[in-house]
Amino acid sequence: MAHDIADIALADLGRQRIDWAETHMPVLASIRERFAKERPLEGIRVAACLHVTTETASLLRTLKAGGAIVHVCASNPLSTQDDVTAALVRDEGMQVFAIKGEDSETYFRHIDAVLDEHPQLTMDDGCDLVSRLHQQRPEQVPEVLAGTEETTTGVIRLKAMQADGALQFPIVAVNDADTKHMFDNRYGTGQSTLDGIIRATNVLLAGKKIVVAGYGYCGKGVASRATGMGAQVYVTEIDPLRALEAVMDGHHVTSMEEAAPVGDIFITVTGNRDVLRREHFAAMKDGAILANSGHFDIEIDLKTLGDMAGARREVRPSVEEFLLDGDRRVLVIAEGRLVNLGAAEGHPAAVMDMSFANQALAAEWVVKNGAGLEKRVYDVPADIDAEIARLKLESMGVAIDRLTPAQEEYLSSWTVGT
Ligand code: ADE
Repeated sequence: MAHDIADIALADLGRQRIDWAETHMPVLASIRERFAKERPLEGIRVAACLHVTTETASLLRTLKAGGAIVHVCASNPLSTQDDVTAALVRDEGMQVFAIKGEDSETYFRHIDAVLDEHPQLTMDDGCDLVSRLHQQRPEQVPEVLAGTEETTTGVIRLKAMQADGALQFPIVAVNDADTKHMFDNRYGTGQSTLDGIIRATNVLLAGKKIVVAGYGYCGKGVASRATGMGAQVYVTEIDPLRALEAVMDGHHVTSMEEAAPVGDIFITVTGNRDVLRREHFAAMKDGAILANSGHFDIEIDLKTLGDMAGARREVRPSVEEFLLDGDRRVLVIAEGRLVNLGAAEGHPAAVMDMSFANQALAAEWVVKNGAGLEKRVYDVPADIDAEIARLKLESMGVAIDRLTPAQEEYLSSWTVGT
């Protein structure tokens, strides 16, 4: 079986950690059980370009249980868990092409290796796979029935492709399901971002001034968790509505220009480039820590920071120090890549349970309906979203109320007022 991974000898550890994650992923487990009986993905070649983590392993095992032939590459050069790739190759017989810390050339070679398998279904996290397929292998595009996309940045890129008339097959925006972004982006990113910063630096968050750039679901999660840890949170935004929301959530809202000399820790979660740049680096305090939790490593202008620095060195694993003006240290975690996956293990399994339940059910849905779909971005069907919420609540032992017949009638009536 073709593969390119770090070390097959890590498979036992990978197996153990995958088993642990799966104990926290009951919704996906119930889907896997059904898939094993019904085989809705029988014989479908899937190209999965995802963060290769224990939680992703659980998704891939679910697709395989459903009959899919799964080929895997990383969606980020730093997020791969090498013990997981080993277990997937040894125990699941999957073709895996991913090595933690791979350079950019290897990253794209690995995407190409997966595309060489002529996928019929793409499962992407950030749209690198789909973008490369469209740009470099147009002859293979008609072989693809449909795809799914995991993250906000990927959905934005896909919508740009759609607007350009470039998108050549239907894609389900898994990110946009309520049971994905309301939980994964908020509670997952919120916790795992701080986890990455803490694991990399071991700094105390209580009493720190933490600047969160961007107040989408991810920014909201980071800001609320940082507040919970005793930090003073500053939010920067370009959107007035989100800025207002941040104000009323109790955060200081200000410009990055004003936050730069004040912050102890800066966390970018905007999805845009150069959020931290020359004028901000020039104003930062000695010891300022910079981390990014947006999909790509473009939010902190590291090229400029490198040019400004007299010296740079690794001061701890995953932490690089840039020396500015001879005496001011600015510290960057995980090379400005996703800090939660580069310096920690990504979102906890309990939240990925819902994200990946959406992936599995979206895959089933597109295989069932693919031929009738248009070449555009689709939402996850509302009934799938609702079913995942129901299953998650059930797994947590949480009961909810039902409408009485009188309440149902009241809600459907327009004649009754005061
Ligand atoms: N994205 C964020 N956290 C993740 C995880 N644990 N596994 C896969 N993708 C992720």
